[in-house]
Amino acid sequence: MKRIRKAVFPVAGLGSRFLPATKVMPKEMLPIVDKPIIQYAVEEAADAGITDMVFIIGRTKRAIADHFDKAYELENELVSRGKHDMLKIVEDTIPRGVNCIFIRQAEALGLGHAVLCAEAVVGNEPFAVLLADDLLDGSVSVTKQMADVFNYHRCSVLGVMEVPREATGSYGVVSTEKDSGEIRRISGIVEKPKPENAPSNLAVVGRYILTPQIFEHLRNLKPGTHGELQLTDAISALLREESVLAYQFNATRYDCGDKLGYLKAMVELGMRHKEIGADFSDFLSQRFAPPA
Ligand code: UTP
Repeated sequence: MKRIRKAVFPVAGLGSRFLPATKVMPKEMLPIVDKPIIQYAVEEAADAGITDMVFIIGRTKRAIADHFDKAYELENELVSRGKHDMLKIVEDTIPRGVNCIFIRQAEALGLGHAVLCAEAVVGNEPFAVLLADDLLDGSVSVTKQMADVFNYHRCSVLGVMEVPREATGSYGVVSTEKDSGEIRRISGIVEKPKPENAPSNLAVVGRYILTPQIFEHLRNLKPGTHGELQLTDAISALLREESVLAYQFNATRYDCGDKLGYLKAMVELGMRHKEIGADFSDFLSQRFAPPA
């Protein structure tokens, strides 16, 4: 089996939790300080050596295609004004050696359907899926961590983390053959189980390495939870034929698809920002320090 060269970014969802901000703007373009959420995910994939970035976009997501395109007018303007630092920032939007490919998902029929839209471009090779809403902040790119697990075990790998039991209804949740360990073989997976029905508190969090066999199961999908074609259901079928591993990644996860998670990411990454981090931290400690 080949190495991971392609990453799929399903970004065709409605982003309804951020309305009205997402009425015309894709939620993936919301910035954490000065960088759009989607750019963090693309940089994570590029750090794993991935060269082909496949975006599954919807009608209101043209800004994402524009963001990863060359901005001739802006670049010329910055050159003529001598703003070379800014020019470098604009040029670095697209990591070196990376191709961006855009596919339209005509209707938001679910994450499983969005991934299936990438089949013609991915072809018969293993690939990564990154949900940009899950911003994973670690010293090593989580996609790189998972690609390393894939390269060793040569089977699909899902990024997982422990969540509070009462939160299982927001995630795909796995059961595993062992009760502990960073890498475990998955024995079952269910989408958004109620806490009382959840097989564990190990939740799948926005990162997948999948073998191309997943496409056959995606093609056979019937609408599942919330009437959508669920990636979880295709993975459930896949693991009857192949090993699928759960990998507990090393990184802090921010759920940027949710207002509170987004604000947490903004504060924490803002405090570490190289330009304004120190001033922002001072501001927070002066403004919100507990009284002496
Ligand atoms: P979410 O469940 O977060 O949905 O999708 P959403 O529409 O983006 O956001 P809310 O809940 O309305 O606020 C999980 C991921 O799957 C993608 C989304 O873009 C997101 O990255 N997705 C979902 C698609 O690309 N197509 C779909 O049909 C559904």
